[in-house]
Amino acid sequence: MSDKTTKTIMEPRLITLHDCDFSTYIFEEEIIARINILAEQIDQEYAGKNPLFLAVLNGSFMFAADLLKRVSIPCEISFIRLSSYQDMQSTGKVKEVLGLTEDVSGRHIVVLEDIVDTGHTVNNLLHQLAERNPASVEIATLLMKPECLQHELNIKYVAKSIPNDFVVGYGLDYNGLGRNLRDIYKIVS
Ligand code: IMP
Ligand code: MG
Repeated sequence: MSDKTTKTIMEPRLITLHDCDFSTYIFEEEIIARINILAEQIDQEYAGKNPLFLAVLNGSFMFAADLLKRVSIPCEISFIRLSSYQDMQSTGKVKEVLGLTEDVSGRHIVVLEDIVDTGHTVNNLLHQLAERNPASVEIATLLMKPECLQHELNIKYVAKSIPNDFVVGYGLDYNGLGRNLRDIYKIVS
């Protein structure tokens, strides 16, 4: 790829979703490079353990697909739903885990999240999973906002930590829009 082409791709782009403007923030190339690192780590740390990945829908669908394509050890994936987000504020209300039909007792679980913000979602999910006696549970998240965390959580796999900005794209949405974007965009304030 020539310098000129790279420069063209990397130029900031503005988009409008509903009533808000967003600007490119983390490009696909960086996302994939960071996911490659996570996949290598997981390959090493879960060899021989047949991990069960639990991807939290909707936000983690792109992250889950791109990560799992790069994990080369035998593993399984299932999709669950547990959402608490409305508009741009975390409601703090977390619903039950939906769609977990697997018997997770004795399994090594890796929860796949799009973003850990306050940590309410992950904290609640960890408690619900613990009741089912898994062998281990770790969290792998694409993004994390450490400034916003309200729980003592040990998040083992973080592709990238970001400041407290609202972001969309690559699975993340603003009131339903933006999940299809291949790059991550930040709100323009
Ligand atoms: P938490 O429970 O506050 O950690 O929020 C977790 C969930 O809120 C994530 O799984 C996302 O679905 C959503 N969320 C948090 N921050 C953002 C953001 O900046 N953009 C889009 N969704 C977000
Ligand atoms: Mg989510």
